[in-house]
Amino acid sequence: MSESKLRVLFVASEAYPLVKTGGLADVSYALPNALRHLGVDVRLLLPGYRSVLEQLSLIEVHENIKLSPLKKPLRILAGTMRGELTPVYVIDYPSLYDRDGGPYQDSTGKEWEDNALRFGMLSKVAALFGNHSLLFKPHIIHCNDWQTGLVPTFLKFNADHQARTVMSVHNMAYQGLFAPEVVELLGLSPESFSMFGLEYHGKVSFIKAGLYYADWITTVSPTYAQDIQTSEYGCGLEGLMTERQNQLTGILNGIDTDTWNPETDPYLARHYNIENLPVKVRNTQALRNTLRLSPSKQAPLLGMITRLTEQKGLNLLLPIIPSIVKTGAQLAILGSGDKKLEKSLQKLASEYPKQLSVNIGYDEELAHQIEAGAHLFLMPSKFEPCGLNQMYSMRYGTLPLVRRTGGLADTVVDATPDNINNKTATGFVFEKNDSNELLSCVERALQLFRDKATWRKLQINGMSSDFSWRKSAEQYISLYYQLLD
Ligand code: ADP
Ligand code: GLC
Repeated sequence: MSESKLRVLFVASEAYPLVKTGGLADVSYALPNALRHLGVDVRLLLPGYRSVLEQLSLIEVHENIKLSPLKKPLRILAGTMRGELTPVYVIDYPSLYDRDGGPYQDSTGKEWEDNALRFGMLSKVAALFGNHSLLFKPHIIHCNDWQTGLVPTFLKFNADHQARTVMSVHNMAYQGLFAPEVVELLGLSPESFSMFGLEYHGKVSFIKAGLYYADWITTVSPTYAQDIQTSEYGCGLEGLMTERQNQLTGILNGIDTDTWNPETDPYLARHYNIENLPVKVRNTQALRNTLRLSPSKQAPLLGMITRLTEQKGLNLLLPIIPSIVKTGAQLAILGSGDKKLEKSLQKLASEYPKQLSVNIGYDEELAHQIEAGAHLFLMPSKFEPCGLNQMYSMRYGTLPLVRRTGGLADTVVDATPDNINNKTATGFVFEKNDSNELLSCVERALQLFRDKATWRKLQINGMSSDFSWRKSAEQYISLYYQLLD
């Protein structure tokens, strides 16, 4: 088979810029584009959420598809994003997807009660493509996270299954666990509801279904592929991951170097690159203005953009914010999620209004401005399958400070004296999931911040690193071919 003929259906529950809650959306946008640049006929399958229907101009490609247990027939629409390469298939079934609120939760943050059906149907439609029952007949179905975990099961138990399946784990902590009745509801094979299948402690686990039945498993960084084989990070599935270690590969995410480019980013006060790095300060000033932080020229500015969940290490950061502020540093935090974390952060912000800016919500523009304006970017994650913001930061000359876990361990090189000398250092890394360690690391970074020449060298090391998707997309292509052999 020549490379140009390889056909892949990339199935996901979110894709930038149509619908996004986190890094999965960035990957679902950028990886298919990178694969297309390398000659793969990859197409995206998404649920027809309201935001997707509103942003794409769509035509009907399949009508009248009857799929149990849905009462009415569904339609498959197709379109492409403006200026983009990847064709997008959209499942049109308004009562499941066309609603107010987010892709997984309503506007109060409560999980949609029919998520098993919503994402079960996403997987079922993907399996129709996989059976070659529709016009586009993929060789490979690339599934992403629990929302697409049932695709390999539907295919496995269908006599004329055709496509091979890859299951990518972006986050093992979200598993899609539902009552056993879901087996009958979705028409899953009763045989699959077993310990040697998709059953997990008496429930149906969508992620386990994918991990058990997919032809191959990938994770979004090499270290996370090791991590999930341990009880600390495997979220109960470490045994299965260890059993399948020979069909498990960690492929590091790349970043979209057009969307995240300080030379062209439309949200920035001033554009800059390695040659005119001093211009970056204009973005720092603009950010301080926007966020009403004190206009101090000397103060280091620390940024953080994150879903507010246990994963992201806020429990380490919160208790040491007063100590950080005491050093004279400023913090700009953007995030949303856990209401308790939101409140704790807001309370602190009211105590230090000139030094701590807390912005609750989702704000693409501010995210870019923090990446460009901050000096240091914090990611003290408890676990991190890959993490994208540390790579955006390096591209923007903003030094990441991270815990050594998952993809953070694979992408950031600590500023030890040796690494500084051999020109590999790109940021700051600490080991333990512990507040004091985080604080010492911040202090170490703030000390180096005073040494402008060395700081500049680290910025340049980061800005000249290659985090583009090409290498990783090539690895996925080799994997697809290996599965077809
Ligand atoms: P995760 O997927 O675990 O949330 P990543 O680092 O892989 O972590 O990706 C997070 C993505 O979501 C980044 O593009 C980041 O800029 C974006 N993001 C997270 N929270 C917000 C927010 N509140 N506003 C804007 N962008 C956000
Ligand atoms: C998940 C992970 C994050 C990763 C992203 C994209 O949301 O939490 O670490 O970068 O997926 O793969």
